[in-house]
Amino acid sequence: MVDSGVAPAPLDVLVLGSGVAGLSAAVRLAAPLSSTGRGAAGLRVGVLTKAELSQSATRWAQGGVAAVLGGDEDSTDLHLADTLAAGAGLCDSDAVRTLVDEGPSRVRELIAMGAVFDRRPGGALDLAREGGHSTARVVHAGGAATGAEVERALVDATRASAAAVLEEWFALDLLVEGGRCAGVRALSAEGRVVEVRAEETVLATGGAGQLFAVTTNPAEATADGLAMALRAGVPVADVEFMQFHPTALHHPAMPRPLLSEALRGHGALLRDAHGERFVDELAPRDVVSRAMAERMRLQGVESLWLDATALASFDARFPTIAASLHAIGLDPSRDWLPIAPAAHYLSGGVLTDLSGATALGGLWAAGEVACTGVHGANRLASNSLLEGMVFGARLAESIMAGSKGPVPTGAMRAFLAGDRERVDPAMAAPWATAATSRATPGPVAQDPVSDVIKTRDELQRCMIEGAGVVRSAESLAGAGEVVDAIGAAIGTGTPADRAQGELVNLVTAARSLLRSATVRCETRGAHARSDHPEASDFWRRRIVHTGDGVAVLRGLPVSEQTPGSGPVTGTSGP
Ligand code: SIN
Repeated sequence: MVDSGVAPAPLDVLVLGSGVAGLSAAVRLAAPLSSTGRGAAGLRVGVLTKAELSQSATRWAQGGVAAVLGGDEDSTDLHLADTLAAGAGLCDSDAVRTLVDEGPSRVRELIAMGAVFDRRPGGALDLAREGGHSTARVVHAGGAATGAEVERALVDATRASAAAVLEEWFALDLLVEGGRCAGVRALSAEGRVVEVRAEETVLATGGAGQLFAVTTNPAEATADGLAMALRAGVPVADVEFMQFHPTALHHPAMPRPLLSEALRGHGALLRDAHGERFVDELAPRDVVSRAMAERMRLQGVESLWLDATALASFDARFPTIAASLHAIGLDPSRDWLPIAPAAHYLSGGVLTDLSGATALGGLWAAGEVACTGVHGANRLASNSLLEGMVFGARLAESIMAGSKGPVPTGAMRAFLAGDRERVDPAMAAPWATAATSRATPGPVAQDPVSDVIKTRDELQRCMIEGAGVVRSAESLAGAGEVVDAIGAAIGTGTPADRAQGELVNLVTAARSLLRSATVRCETRGAHARSDHPEASDFWRRRIVHTGDGVAVLRGLPVSEQTPGSGPVTGTSGP
């Protein structure tokens, strides 16, 4: 039953999530910059988050923010080219152009807001190089504690400007009235079901790493926004592209401690079980993770090595990473560090135009939950904080300008062109027709809390086995059977608490990831299929989930193709 007692008065804008994208939008909307000429009044903005305001995946981001901020050898054209190359043919080049052109101003704004980035002795920003970047262009803070610094600056600004901050609240579902989003139904901090109403709702709920048993993402990354969009029939795309970070510490801690790509940028080496190097350490992440998975399979091992012993001043340069290594008895100046790939970043998400508008009126999305088209099949290192800043700000400007509905730009362009082919449900999920009794959830525990924990664990294990770095039709079907059986067992009633709600969301998101990964019969970017090891020209197109099921967008507009590539020609289809 909905309880109206504790809901805030209707808001102009409700922001769901408190990472860099959500707070960049909230701060701009609540206290517009004087340069916009709109005065300082701002809108009545609420931020709803299921944990504390400062607890988001942004806080964990190590590497930094990629932006062209200095150095004659760099240019936005080069940043664009690197991003397109990492995205393996599925980026929207207009979206990437927007990202690289507007990024530097957003970083400067953050500095003006109080964020402190590492500098060289002369005062210039200390730029690092990471995988897939052709030059050093990554700004960082505290060595590899950039996200924490970005989050600190934004949290302070949000607390000073938002009309309502709803911490420990859990959004259950989007309120859709008259074809528009009117806010959300949520569980309040006291566990009451409440409607939080708003003219405009912003999904900035972050990622989905908790779909997998091995991840760098915090426990909160449970695909909540993605799942709410899927349940409301709001189009979602590219969800098969879960990026695995190659250098997560192989250690029982969860989330896995990350050994930032910046270490390889400074010269750390990857070594196999025999101590041999086997891949270019600065190749894009998908390439490195795949090479590692192959080496681990051939050598029958569960981890490989990161050799950072030659790095000068490791502890002074990377104090956060050094502290976590010393805490478990590893000395990076002497020891090789055990590593294995871990689920890190969902490149796809809720389909938006270049202003963050989704296909549902009144609903916007930015950051990891969104699919703007900037990442394509594989995100370039340190482009994620940047994306949150750039598209969080664009969305805020569009709301303030009174924009309505999506326009045909970015990843939304091909969707609005309407040229899509529905995929036969039996092809997207062949397991759904098979008896699911082979994979029933574990025994029902007496204690409902431990039951939810066990079931979440079971889902995460089947996903890492069936839909990890390398997948096949067979492995995806195995995971699909388990996930469907879990879904059938937990039902569709209103979750009683956050843990149950997160489990429902993980099941919803897992189903869509498994269906997309089954339909995409090729290897591209972060999606590697052992039964389809090559990229196919036919598959230079997006897979979308709509209220009607799974569909393939037929053909990408010219701007979505890597410069210099030829037309899309069909070789093998769904
Ligand atoms: C890293 O520091 O390696 C992670 C940063 C990112 O995900 O881009």
